[in-house]
Amino acid sequence: MSTINLKKGNSLDLLPLLGNESVNLIFADPPYNLSGENNLTVKNGKMVTCDKGEWDKIENFHEFNEKWLKECIRILKNDGTLWISGTLHNHPSIGFLLKKLNLWIINDVIWFKPNAAPLLSQNRFVPSTELIWVASKSKKYYFDYQTAKKLNYGKQMRNLWEMTSEKHKTIHPAEKPEKLLERILLIGTKENDLVLDPFLGSGTTGVVAKKLNRNFIGFEIDETYLEIAKKRISETQPDYPMNFFYTFEQTKLNC
Ligand SMILES: C[S@@+](CC[C@H](N)C(=O)[O-])C[C@H]1O[C@@H](n2cnc3c(N)ncnc32)[C@H](O)[C@@H]1O
Repeated sequence: MSTINLKKGNSLDLLPLLGNESVNLIFADPPYNLSGENNLTVKNGKMVTCDKGEWDKIENFHEFNEKWLKECIRILKNDGTLWISGTLHNHPSIGFLLKKLNLWIINDVIWFKPNAAPLLSQNRFVPSTELIWVASKSKKYYFDYQTAKKLNYGKQMRNLWEMTSEKHKTIHPAEKPEKLLERILLIGTKENDLVLDPFLGSGTTGVVAKKLNRNFIGFEIDETYLEIAKKRISETQPDYPMNFFYTFEQTKLNC
Protein backbone atom coordinates (compact mmCIF):
# COMPACT_ATOMS: atom_id res chain seq x y z
CA MET A 1 0.00 0.00 0.00
CA SER A 2 1.56 3.33 -1.02
CA THR A 3 1.87 6.46 1.13
CA ILE A 4 0.41 9.61 -0.42
CA ASN A 5 1.35 13.01 1.01
CA LEU A 6 -0.27 16.13 -0.51
CA LYS A 7 0.49 19.66 0.69
CA LYS A 8 -0.92 23.06 -0.18
CA GLY A 9 1.65 25.80 -0.66
CA ASN A 10 4.36 27.30 -2.77
CA SER A 11 6.94 24.73 -3.85
CA LEU A 12 9.64 27.32 -3.30
CA ASP A 13 8.73 27.11 0.43
CA LEU A 14 7.88 23.40 0.63
CA LEU A 15 10.76 21.84 -1.32
CA PRO A 16 13.35 23.02 1.26
CA LEU A 17 11.51 20.89 3.86
CA LEU A 18 12.39 17.63 2.05
CA GLY A 19 15.61 15.76 2.83
CA ASN A 20 18.70 15.50 0.66
CA GLU A 21 18.71 12.61 -1.81
CA SER A 22 15.35 11.31 -0.60
CA VAL A 23 13.29 10.94 -3.78
CA ASN A 24 13.62 8.41 -6.64
CA LEU A 25 11.83 10.32 -9.38
CA ILE A 26 10.60 13.88 -9.80
CA PHE A 27 8.01 14.73 -12.42
CA ALA A 28 7.67 18.51 -12.76
CA ASP A 29 4.98 20.03 -14.95
CA PRO A 30 5.70 23.65 -14.04
CA PRO A 31 4.07 26.85 -15.27
CA TYR A 32 5.12 27.27 -18.91
CA ASN A 33 4.55 31.05 -18.75
CA LEU A 34 2.52 30.90 -21.93
CA SER A 35 -0.48 32.89 -20.71
CA GLY A 36 -0.60 36.48 -21.94
CA GLU A 37 -1.31 38.71 -24.86
CA ASN A 38 1.53 37.36 -26.97
CA ASN A 39 0.02 33.89 -27.08
CA LEU A 40 -3.21 33.07 -28.84
CA THR A 41 -5.16 29.85 -28.68
CA VAL A 42 -8.46 28.41 -29.95
CA LYS A 43 -11.49 28.11 -27.67
CA ASN A 44 -14.90 27.03 -28.97
CA GLY A 45 -13.67 27.66 -32.51
CA LYS A 46 -12.57 31.27 -31.74
CA MET A 47 -9.11 32.76 -31.44
CA VAL A 48 -8.55 34.03 -27.87
CA THR A 49 -5.64 35.11 -25.69
CA CYS A 50 -4.17 32.13 -23.86
CA ASP A 51 -4.97 32.37 -20.14
CA LYS A 52 -4.34 29.27 -18.00
CA GLY A 53 -4.64 31.28 -14.77
CA GLU A 54 -2.57 33.56 -12.51
CA TRP A 55 -0.27 30.60 -11.68
CA ASP A 56 1.01 30.66 -15.27
CA LYS A 57 2.09 34.35 -15.20
CA ILE A 58 5.50 34.39 -13.56
CA GLU A 59 7.75 37.41 -13.24
CA ASN A 60 11.48 36.64 -13.39
CA PHE A 61 10.62 33.29 -14.93
CA HIS A 62 14.19 32.05 -15.38
CA GLU A 63 15.03 32.85 -11.71
CA PHE A 64 11.89 31.01 -10.60
CA ASN A 65 12.94 27.96 -12.64
CA GLU A 66 16.44 28.04 -11.19
CA LYS A 67 15.13 28.13 -7.59
CA TRP A 68 12.83 25.10 -7.80
CA LEU A 69 15.20 23.18 -10.01
CA LYS A 70 18.10 23.60 -7.55
CA GLU A 71 15.93 22.25 -4.75
CA CYS A 72 14.80 19.29 -6.87
CA ILE A 73 18.43 18.43 -7.59
CA ARG A 74 19.25 18.46 -3.86
CA ILE A 75 16.27 16.22 -3.06
CA LEU A 76 16.81 13.72 -5.92
CA LYS A 77 18.68 10.48 -5.16
CA ASN A 78 21.96 9.99 -6.97
CA ASP A 79 20.44 7.25 -9.13
CA GLY A 80 17.10 9.06 -9.51
CA THR A 81 15.69 10.82 -12.55
CA LEU A 82 14.11 14.21 -13.12
CA TRP A 83 11.41 14.58 -15.80
CA ILE A 84 10.36 18.14 -16.73
CA SER A 85 7.66 18.91 -19.26
CA GLY A 86 7.46 22.00 -21.38
CA THR A 87 6.86 23.72 -24.67
CA LEU A 88 8.94 26.28 -26.53
CA HIS A 89 7.89 28.81 -23.86
CA ASN A 90 9.89 27.20 -21.06
CA HIS A 91 12.12 24.51 -22.45
CA PRO A 92 15.00 26.82 -23.46
CA SER A 93 15.13 28.12 -19.85
CA ILE A 94 14.99 24.59 -18.39
CA GLY A 95 17.51 23.18 -20.88
CA PHE A 96 19.97 25.99 -20.14
CA LEU A 97 19.60 25.43 -16.38
CA LEU A 98 20.07 21.65 -16.64
CA LYS A 99 23.43 22.30 -18.28
CA LYS A 100 24.36 25.12 -15.90
CA LEU A 101 23.54 22.97 -12.85
CA ASN A 102 25.66 20.08 -14.20
CA LEU A 103 22.88 17.59 -14.73
CA TRP A 104 23.30 14.68 -17.11
CA ILE A 105 20.68 15.06 -19.83
CA ILE A 106 19.46 11.54 -20.63
CA ASN A 107 16.82 12.34 -23.25
CA ASP A 108 14.55 14.94 -24.67
CA VAL A 109 11.29 13.06 -25.08
CA ILE A 110 8.94 14.55 -27.64
CA TRP A 111 5.30 13.92 -26.86
CA PHE A 112 3.45 14.16 -30.18
CA LYS A 113 -0.32 14.78 -29.96
CA PRO A 114 -1.93 13.68 -33.24
CA ASN A 115 -5.23 15.21 -32.07
CA ALA A 116 -3.79 18.68 -31.29
CA ALA A 117 -6.25 21.57 -31.68
CA PRO A 118 -6.17 23.19 -35.14
CA LEU A 119 -4.67 26.63 -35.63
CA LEU A 120 -6.88 29.47 -36.90
CA SER A 121 -4.00 31.77 -37.83
CA GLN A 122 -2.07 30.90 -40.97
CA ASN A 123 1.33 32.17 -39.91
CA ARG A 124 2.97 29.13 -38.29
CA PHE A 125 2.86 25.35 -37.85
CA VAL A 126 0.19 23.83 -35.61
CA PRO A 127 1.73 23.29 -32.14
CA SER A 128 1.30 19.55 -31.54
CA THR A 129 4.18 18.57 -29.29
CA GLU A 130 5.44 18.94 -25.75
CA LEU A 131 9.00 18.25 -24.75
CA ILE A 132 9.99 16.34 -21.64
CA TRP A 133 13.57 16.77 -20.46
CA VAL A 134 14.86 13.61 -18.73
CA ALA A 135 17.94 14.22 -16.58
CA SER A 136 19.92 12.76 -13.67
CA LYS A 137 22.70 13.69 -11.27
CA SER A 138 24.99 10.86 -12.31
CA LYS A 139 25.37 8.59 -15.31
CA LYS A 140 24.26 5.65 -13.14
CA TYR A 141 20.53 6.12 -12.91
CA TYR A 142 17.57 3.79 -12.67
CA PHE A 143 15.98 3.18 -16.08
CA ASP A 144 13.88 0.08 -16.75
CA TYR A 145 14.82 -0.56 -20.36
CA GLN A 146 13.01 -3.92 -20.49
CA THR A 147 9.71 -2.43 -19.35
CA ALA A 148 10.09 0.35 -21.93
CA LYS A 149 10.54 -2.33 -24.58
CA LYS A 150 7.54 -4.27 -23.29
CA LEU A 151 5.41 -1.11 -23.38
CA ASN A 152 6.50 -0.67 -26.99
CA TYR A 153 5.36 -4.16 -28.03
CA GLY A 154 8.85 -5.70 -27.87
CA LYS A 155 10.69 -2.98 -29.79
CA GLN A 156 13.20 -0.46 -28.38
CA MET A 157 11.31 2.63 -27.26
CA ARG A 158 12.19 5.81 -29.15
CA ASN A 159 12.12 9.32 -27.70
CA LEU A 160 9.12 10.24 -29.89
CA TRP A 161 5.97 9.30 -27.98
CA GLU A 162 2.77 9.51 -29.98
CA MET A 163 -0.19 9.81 -27.61
CA THR A 164 -3.53 11.46 -28.14
CA SER A 165 -4.51 14.06 -25.54
CA GLU A 166 -7.22 12.54 -23.35
CA LYS A 167 -10.49 14.29 -22.58
CA HIS A 168 -9.81 16.11 -19.30
CA LYS A 169 -11.17 14.42 -16.19
CA THR A 170 -11.17 17.70 -14.22
CA ILE A 171 -11.49 21.45 -14.77
CA HIS A 172 -7.71 21.91 -14.63
CA PRO A 173 -6.59 23.55 -17.91
CA ALA A 174 -3.25 21.71 -18.03
CA GLU A 175 -4.19 18.18 -16.97
CA LYS A 176 -1.73 15.59 -18.32
CA PRO A 177 -2.94 12.20 -19.65
CA GLU A 178 -2.58 9.37 -17.14
CA LYS A 179 -1.03 7.14 -19.82
CA LEU A 180 1.89 9.61 -20.15
CA LEU A 181 2.63 9.36 -16.42
CA GLU A 182 2.15 5.57 -16.45
CA ARG A 183 4.95 5.28 -18.95
CA ILE A 184 7.24 7.60 -17.00
CA LEU A 185 6.68 5.95 -13.60
CA LEU A 186 6.91 2.40 -14.96
CA ILE A 187 10.24 3.13 -16.66
CA GLY A 188 11.72 5.45 -14.01
CA THR A 189 10.73 3.72 -10.74
CA LYS A 190 10.18 0.41 -8.96
CA GLU A 191 7.26 -0.47 -6.68
CA ASN A 192 7.46 1.39 -3.33
CA ASP A 193 9.85 4.04 -4.69
CA LEU A 194 9.13 7.67 -3.82
CA VAL A 195 7.84 10.05 -6.51
CA LEU A 196 7.59 13.84 -6.11
CA ASP A 197 5.48 16.28 -8.16
CA PRO A 198 6.10 19.92 -7.10
CA PHE A 199 3.35 21.26 -9.41
CA LEU A 200 0.57 18.78 -8.73
CA GLY A 201 -2.33 20.48 -10.56
CA SER A 202 -5.26 18.05 -10.80
CA GLY A 203 -3.17 15.23 -9.32
CA THR A 204 -2.43 13.08 -12.38
CA THR A 205 1.02 12.01 -11.11
CA GLY A 206 -0.45 11.07 -7.72
CA VAL A 207 -3.25 9.04 -9.33
CA VAL A 208 -0.75 7.04 -11.37
CA ALA A 209 1.68 6.65 -8.44
CA LYS A 210 -1.11 5.16 -6.34
CA LYS A 211 -2.24 2.86 -9.17
CA LEU A 212 1.32 1.57 -9.58
CA ASN A 213 2.11 1.23 -5.83
CA ARG A 214 4.63 4.04 -5.69
CA ASN A 215 4.83 6.41 -2.70
CA PHE A 216 4.04 9.99 -3.54
CA ILE A 217 4.51 13.61 -2.43
CA GLY A 218 2.67 16.40 -4.25
CA PHE A 219 2.69 20.19 -3.76
CA GLU A 220 0.05 22.55 -5.15
CA ILE A 221 -0.33 26.28 -4.54
CA ASP A 222 -4.01 26.54 -5.46
CA GLU A 223 -6.60 25.34 -2.94
CA THR A 224 -9.21 24.39 -5.57
CA TYR A 225 -6.77 22.27 -7.57
CA LEU A 226 -5.42 20.64 -4.42
CA GLU A 227 -8.95 19.58 -3.42
CA ILE A 228 -9.54 18.18 -6.91
CA ALA A 229 -6.27 16.23 -6.70
CA LYS A 230 -7.10 14.90 -3.22
CA LYS A 231 -10.49 13.64 -4.35
CA ARG A 232 -9.13 12.10 -7.53
CA ILE A 233 -6.31 10.30 -5.74
CA SER A 234 -8.52 9.07 -2.89
CA GLU A 235 -10.90 7.53 -5.44
CA THR A 236 -8.03 5.67 -7.17
CA GLN A 237 -7.35 2.01 -6.40
CA PRO A 238 -3.94 0.34 -6.71
CA ASP A 239 -3.94 -1.59 -9.99
CA TYR A 240 -0.45 -3.05 -10.37
CA PRO A 241 1.12 -5.20 -11.65
CA MET A 242 -1.47 -7.79 -12.72
CA ASN A 243 -4.29 -5.60 -13.94
CA PHE A 244 -2.03 -3.03 -15.50
CA PHE A 245 -0.18 -5.43 -17.78
CA TYR A 246 -3.37 -7.43 -18.39
CA THR A 247 -5.10 -4.28 -19.70
CA PHE A 248 -2.01 -3.50 -21.71
CA GLU A 249 -2.03 -6.94 -23.38
CA GLN A 250 -5.74 -6.57 -24.19
CA THR A 251 -5.08 -3.19 -25.81
CA LYS A 252 -2.41 -4.79 -27.93
CA LEU A 253 -4.76 -7.56 -29.08
CA ASN A 254 -7.41 -5.02 -30.00
CA CYS A 255 -5.05 -2.89 -32.12
C1 LIG B 1 1.00 22.77 -15.53
S1 LIG B 1 0.04 22.63 -14.09
C2 LIG B 1 0.23 20.94 -13.61
C3 LIG B 1 -0.82 20.04 -14.19
C4 LIG B 1 -0.70 18.61 -13.72
N1 LIG B 1 0.43 17.94 -14.27
C5 LIG B 1 -1.97 17.82 -14.04
O1 LIG B 1 -1.88 16.76 -14.70
O2 LIG B 1 -3.04 18.25 -13.63
C6 LIG B 1 0.96 23.49 -12.91
C7 LIG B 1 0.34 23.57 -11.53
O3 LIG B 1 1.31 24.12 -10.64
C8 LIG B 1 0.68 24.98 -9.73
N2 LIG B 1 1.73 25.92 -9.29
C9 LIG B 1 2.18 27.02 -9.95
N3 LIG B 1 3.18 27.60 -9.26
C10 LIG B 1 3.35 26.87 -8.14
C11 LIG B 1 4.24 26.95 -7.05
N4 LIG B 1 5.14 27.94 -6.95
N5 LIG B 1 4.16 26.01 -6.07
C12 LIG B 1 3.23 25.01 -6.14
N6 LIG B 1 2.35 24.88 -7.16
C13 LIG B 1 2.43 25.79 -8.15
C14 LIG B 1 -0.47 25.61 -10.50
O4 LIG B 1 -1.51 26.04 -9.63
C15 LIG B 1 -0.88 24.46 -11.43
O5 LIG B 1 -1.98 23.75 -10.89
